[in-house]
Amino acid sequence: MSRGDPEADRQPTRSGGSTDRLCPPDWFVETANVSDSDIRARFEANWPGCWRAAADLLDWDTPYDSVLSAGDDRLTWFEGGALKPSVNCVDRHVEAGRKNAVALRWIGAAGERESLTYLDLQYEVEAVAAGLRTLGVGPGNVVTLFMPNVPELPVTMLACARLGALHNVVYAGFSADELADRMESADSEYLVTCDGYYRRGSAVGQRNTADSARLRLDADVTGVLVGRLDDDPHLGRDYHGYGALRDEFAGATVEPVAREAGDPLFVLYTSGTTGEPDQVTHATGGYLSYAAWTAMAVLDIKPQDTYWCAADIGWITGHTYGVYGPLALGTTTLLHESPADHQAGGHPWTSIERESVDVFYTAPTAVRSMRQRGAPPSDEYDRSSIRLLGTVGEPIDPTTWHWYREHLGGGEAPVVDTWWQTETGGIVVATLPALDEMQPGSAGPGVPGLSVDVVDGAGDPVAAGTEGTLAVSRPWPGMCRRLAVEARAAGADADSPEAWRYVTGDRATRDADGYVTLLGRDAETIEMDETAVGTAVVERVISSLDGVTEAGVVRVSETGEIAAYVSCERNHPDTDALTERVRSRVRKEVSPAVCPDRIVVVPELPKTHSGKVMRRLLADVVSGHGYGDTSALRNPEVVGEIETVTREEEE
Ligand code: PRX
Repeated sequence: MSRGDPEADRQPTRSGGSTDRLCPPDWFVETANVSDSDIRARFEANWPGCWRAAADLLDWDTPYDSVLSAGDDRLTWFEGGALKPSVNCVDRHVEAGRKNAVALRWIGAAGERESLTYLDLQYEVEAVAAGLRTLGVGPGNVVTLFMPNVPELPVTMLACARLGALHNVVYAGFSADELADRMESADSEYLVTCDGYYRRGSAVGQRNTADSARLRLDADVTGVLVGRLDDDPHLGRDYHGYGALRDEFAGATVEPVAREAGDPLFVLYTSGTTGEPDQVTHATGGYLSYAAWTAMAVLDIKPQDTYWCAADIGWITGHTYGVYGPLALGTTTLLHESPADHQAGGHPWTSIERESVDVFYTAPTAVRSMRQRGAPPSDEYDRSSIRLLGTVGEPIDPTTWHWYREHLGGGEAPVVDTWWQTETGGIVVATLPALDEMQPGSAGPGVPGLSVDVVDGAGDPVAAGTEGTLAVSRPWPGMCRRLAVEARAAGADADSPEAWRYVTGDRATRDADGYVTLLGRDAETIEMDETAVGTAVVERVISSLDGVTEAGVVRVSETGEIAAYVSCERNHPDTDALTERVRSRVRKEVSPAVCPDRIVVVPELPKTHSGKVMRRLLADVVSGHGYGDTSALRNPEVVGEIETVTREEEE
């Protein structure tokens, strides 16, 4: 098979995807979960019945009557069926004789290492569920969980699910106002939080933030406090101790509540780089089936694997592919308190070697930051356990893709670039790793059973290779409740699924083979003559230059000026030469009309907590408006430097 040369200046195509296509190695194909080459045709021929394959991965208490049914106000997947999510993710593995298999391996920021077998997890979940039940939590209540990646978070999620309550996980780095907004909007009167946690080596207090949020709320909130910094934190009148509750109810048996397929499992707010957070609700049957099926088919997760999803559970990736998908499949899911690019030594190789990780799933931002720091020599850390690599959250440029595969995947492991959203519940666009060729820079075709198009402003599909907006032209089991309502209102049902189309808001092109290349959000475009070019197109071209790790391109609306913010590998030489290389490459590969007027070299781009480049802030800085609130950033410390470099560059 062909191997990428990660150091080469790659020649991107017009839309930024590279032209090389790579096959998975034979050793991967031989053991892959899905290797049946007519799977897409079979799914097409039997739609929506094909989705029984997803529901079959779960245990149902009551079998469903129909795969997709159209009610008065929304579509429901697996209507008539009832299931117990915590049984599917925990108890059934114990009953199947895998009680001693590790369900959850946790690595704390201070280097702690804890393992919970499926039996341990069942014991913990039941104890916490019993504790929450005595506090009044029951079916339909919304419990807000304001914690980082600590074992108590997935345990409490599953405890809520066991009681039929909905969890509302709020990313631990959010402010008191953001927490209060999300609790208020979700009508949540229960809060499970922690005294603090460790971030990048320092202890961060969490309790004061939670307390301030509670002061802002009118409702009486019942609080539970996890002691992460202190085993025995002061509780005061406002909190019950998590540890004390768990100890009091240790050994309790809590009969799990069976939920109807269409009942909500959780609420979660979208991260977003602009605008207000949106509440997304996922239904129990469709979501869980889709999480399990895509984790099995795209991420190739097997029960005997150690699987590491580096996302924070505060985002949908952590929900679907850190907790529900892998636990439904009975694998070992690795949970890190620190992000993958902030491990000891600044890289993930230590954990990959120590835990013998089979499948690693992270964000391109994290890979770029690893690339910027440089990889340790290949004989220093053993990464031979890696069978598959995945990315999610942002477009990955071909150069970073090749670097990832070379330095984490030994140059051989397949890489899946997975496109999806909080609203979609699970992966929508990706290659199936044993079946589809990989095209670095392009996410791939739709998942089997999905119908993916690129459409114009009027909602009509555009010709192959033309830019437009990515749309999903048919319902799928992971769709959130809002989409299930919209699809029904548009007249979609099992017989006429294409009466509805979900326009995703992401710019994309689709080539003649159906491979989709993502080009950023619709809002992130530069008008050029009569068309619009996604800033991601220009960013990809710049990122493909040797030595460049990432680029953020913005256009100042008042002046029309285009600025490219660029960060480089360590010790990158001459920035003047870089400016010329950027300009000539953009002129040649995209158009002189979008050639950046200014190129500003910065140490790092500003990123949201979920790892997306905050282009709005770059536009504010370059236009001289000042950059205002930086609380939505995970690296606010870089903003001052970006401002200084921008002003210096003006002089
Ligand atoms: O713009 C797309 C980008 O992330 C958005 C969804 O963000 P969120 O709801 O927070 O969920 C993130 C994790 C699923 C999308 O609208 N995005 C996600 N995956 C990719 C991507 N952009 C390009 N390539 C991807 N693979």
